[in-house]
Amino acid sequence: MSILVTGTAGFIGSSFARQRLAASNEKIISLDALTYAGHPSTLLPVMDNPNHLFVHGSIGDKALVAKLLAEYKPRAVVNFAAESHVDRSIHGPEAFIETNVLGTFRLLEAVREYWQELTREEQSQFRYLQVSTDEVYGTLSREEAPFAETNRYEPNSPYAASKAASDHLVRAWHHTYGLPVLTTNCSNNYGPYHFPEKLIPLVIMNALADKKLPIYGDGQQVRDWLYVEDHTRAIYEVLERGQLGETYNIGGWNEKTNREVVYTICTILDELKPREDGSCYSRLITFVKDRPGHDRRYAIDARKIEGELGWKPQETFDTGIRKTVQWYLDNQAWVRLVTDAAYREWLEKQYAG
Ligand code: NAD
Ligand code: DAU
Repeated sequence: MSILVTGTAGFIGSSFARQRLAASNEKIISLDALTYAGHPSTLLPVMDNPNHLFVHGSIGDKALVAKLLAEYKPRAVVNFAAESHVDRSIHGPEAFIETNVLGTFRLLEAVREYWQELTREEQSQFRYLQVSTDEVYGTLSREEAPFAETNRYEPNSPYAASKAASDHLVRAWHHTYGLPVLTTNCSNNYGPYHFPEKLIPLVIMNALADKKLPIYGDGQQVRDWLYVEDHTRAIYEVLERGQLGETYNIGGWNEKTNREVVYTICTILDELKPREDGSCYSRLITFVKDRPGHDRRYAIDARKIEGELGWKPQETFDTGIRKTVQWYLDNQAWVRLVTDAAYREWLEKQYAG
């Protein structure tokens, strides 16, 4: 038995691959295009595992996906592959349409053709799981209830719109062709191997390098943080026991303002790696120009997955963020490997002025 998993050289896909390979003998066929956000070093812990096969390629390469499906006959496909950074989608939306919309479309077509050739028994066992985001639901005011699965899609950024489009394709492939699909919509993840352009790893690495810690706008935007390994456990529960055609919201009931998150990281660093001059890391905090169209608040109502599948997060924000800061202190070599000249150019462009 095997599972084809896409986007495994990235943050969340790699956590899923590491977790599954540690938990069972099932083969994982990894497919990743190794964009700026995917790096082979992220998969180093599992590269020599005999149950892991890494393939460098795109979900948009239908012939390659068809070949992998025919050769390995996976019982499931889990699609993590995507362009995932909102700020980059504002500077250059085309890559998001290419991968998240067209790529998902081509992947779905390859999977449909494979699935249609399976026996009835195999067809009923097969699953396609689409990893999506809470950003498809838009933004919440402070008073509104957290996003439930029944909320209307109201994506606000080019990234969110491209993810909403891919979710709609997945839904249509189920409704029209009967493809056995599942969709998960998760809140903000944090943890090891998070590419240091996103808020939490960026702040940790900037603080260690004595650089400014940029908070957009007034820093009162709220995100609902979930430790990455809790997310990938949830995805596996949905894959194994979720109801076909259904969507499951995944979140940790951990709403925090960006200000709170950045101050918490500074306090943990003050304790774990005090600055030589005795000053606090928070003195590096700088309020910068806001993100255009910045969603004010995300929050997930996770009662469906908790009630139907019995999933619950194992980490609180306090335990998870401490582990994360410690991981970055211990793994600066990984950060050096994944941050090249293109990364530095991105920081110049995004934080100019
Ligand atoms: P990431 O940017 O860290 O990793 C994405 C991976 O996909 C990279 O390894 C990249 O090389 C690969 N990739 C990109 N285009 C590809 C293509 N055409 N073919 C094959 N591989 C390709 O992203 P992440 O944070 O790990 O997110 C994974 C998924 O989870 C995404 O679909 C994202 O929308 C979703 N998600 C992320 C979060 C979060 O907080 N990071 C929360 C909810 C949902
Ligand atoms: O909600 C799920 C989404 O979470 C995922 O779908 C996305 O793939 C993932 O990137 C993440 O999106 P965000 O835009 O919420 O994550 P990011 O880390 O970029 O930003 C988190 C918050 O911090 C957001 O309100 C913007 C703010 N921010 C971000 C950066 C990079 C800052 O204030 N300063 C910064 O320098």
